[in-house]
Amino acid sequence: MADIVILGIFAADTAYRARRLPQIGETVMGEGFALNAGGKGSNQSVAAARAGGDVAFLSKIGRDTFGALARRTWDEAGVAFAGDETDDPTGAAFIFVDAESGDNAIIVTPGAAGTITPADLDRWAPTIGGARVFVTQLEQPRDAAQRGLEIARAAGVRTVLNPAPAADIPDEMLALCDLITPNESEAALLTGMSVAGPTDAEAAAARLRARGAGAVIVTLGEAGALYHDGDTVLHIPALNAGPVVETTGAGDAFNGGLAAALAEGQPIERALRVATATAALSVTRAGAAPSMPTRDEIDRLL
Ligand code: RIB
Ligand code: NA
Repeated sequence: MADIVILGIFAADTAYRARRLPQIGETVMGEGFALNAGGKGSNQSVAAARAGGDVAFLSKIGRDTFGALARRTWDEAGVAFAGDETDDPTGAAFIFVDAESGDNAIIVTPGAAGTITPADLDRWAPTIGGARVFVTQLEQPRDAAQRGLEIARAAGVRTVLNPAPAADIPDEMLALCDLITPNESEAALLTGMSVAGPTDAEAAAARLRARGAGAVIVTLGEAGALYHDGDTVLHIPALNAGPVVETTGAGDAFNGGLAAALAEGQPIERALRVATATAALSVTRAGAAPSMPTRDEIDRLL
C-alpha cells in the first residue's frame, strides 16, 4: 500500500521552443523540440516519488508508444502504476515554450484518461483507502475526481485538490478538500476575485474556505505561496535555484513535493518549504517530469 495515491492523467508533452506562437495560417521557425513525460497527475507522482514519497498513480493509458513512455517514466521514478491500460490512445499535449522567458502555453488531450469514471474510482477504492494522502487535479473528468475525494474522505485519508486546469468547482466538491492548491488564475476563477500577490491570495483563500475548503494554498509564482487554514496564515517566499529554463510542471513539482512532505507527517510550514524548493529546482531544467528534483537536491536548497 502506497502512502501517497495520486489520480490524474499522463500526457506525452511535445514541447516546441519558439520566439512566439504562429498566427492562424502562419508558419514560424522553432528553436528546438523535445518529447517529454507530462500530464499533471503523472508529473505530481514523479515529483513526490523523487522527493522521497511512496507513490501509487491511478489513471488510464493506451497500449501505444506514449503509453510505453509513461511506463518507463514511472519505472525510473519509482512510481507504482495502479490504473488500467486500455485501447484508447494515451494522453498527449502540445506545449509552446517561449524561448526567451521559459513560459508556456499548452493544449492537453487526456485520451484514455478522459474515460475515467466514478465506477473506476470505486474499483480503485482499496488503493485510495490505504493512503495517507490522496491528490487529484482536473485533467480527468471532474466527477471521477470528486468520487476519488469522497472515497479518500470516507477512509480518513487527507485530501488535496490541485484545481488545474482552471475550472469551476461546486461547493460540495470543495467541502471534500482538506487542502486546495490553486495558482493565482485558478483562485481568481474559483472566487470571481482578482488575485495577484499575497494580499489578494489571502482574501481568495478566505472565500474558498467559506465555500467549504479546509485549508488553501495559493501558489504565487515568483512571490512564493500563501497558506490559510482559518487560524494560521503563512506567506512562504519563493526560492531561487538558478536561471529559469522552462516553467512547465512547476505547479506539479510544488504539489508533488507538498504531498511527499505531508505523507511524512511534516508540519505544514516545512511542507510548504519543501514544495517551494521542489518547484524552484524544476524550473531550472527543461521538461515537466524530467525536471523533478531528488530529495537530496531539495534538502540542499532548503
Ligand atoms: O502542468 C503541466 C502539465 O500540464 C504538462 O506536463 C502537460 O502535459 C499538461 O497536462
Ligand atoms: Na521544468
